[in-house]
Amino acid sequence: MPRVSLAFLTTAALTALAGMAWGSQMGASGDHSMMPAHAHLNLLGWVTLSIMGGVYALPGLRCNVMVAWANYVLSTAGAVLMALLLPAVLTEKISGHIMMVAEIPAILGMLLFLVSLLGNWRRPAAA
Ligand code: HEM
Ligand code: HEM
Repeated sequence: MPRVSLAFLTTAALTALAGMAWGSQMGASGDHSMMPAHAHLNLLGWVTLSIMGGVYALPGLRCNVMVAWANYVLSTAGAVLMALLLPAVLTEKISGHIMMVAEIPAILGMLLFLVSLLGNWRRPAAA
């Protein structure tokens, strides 16, 4: 497996563990006010990073390794910053505009993922 896939999938599993622990805590306490933060740590962390890591492991995929690593750094930053900043926004300690700090890397990471995929359209289709 390429190192970049291993990095994506290891980080995805770590965010899943953190997200599940957070969900369990919400369930046990009955306080669901952090639901969007829990949901997006799981969705941008576990779900998005796993899909990207899985795709970069596909044997037929051709992509620039630096683009793949930049994708990893940005998408991981987006997931982690989302989980770190959203609780303060939800409790109205800081303005919602600060979420741009998480949204921009998340969106740029997805754009780089698209770049990695698009290059493959130039190659003859396998099937
Ligand atoms: C041990 C594992 C988990 C526990 C205990 C847990 C617990 C919870 C709880 C208590 C809520 C609040 C429900 C509500 O107020 O309606 C919630 C919401 C949510 N969780 Fe989890 N969760 C877990 C794993 C996950 C995972 C793996 C994902 C994503 C892949 C996920 C995605 C979501 C989403 C999207 C919502 C919002 C649902 C909605 O809009 O009604 N959760 N979770
Ligand atoms: C930059 C990335 C993203 C931004 C800025 C964003 C923003 C939002 C916002 C503002 C809400 C409404 C929250 C509320 O009403 O409390 C929401 C809900 C939701 N989003 Fe996202 N989202 C992002 C990525 C994603 C991704 C990647 C997924 C799925 C893989 C996803 C799935 C959901 C779901 C299931 C809900 C309903 C559950 C909830 O209220 O937390 N989002 N999102």
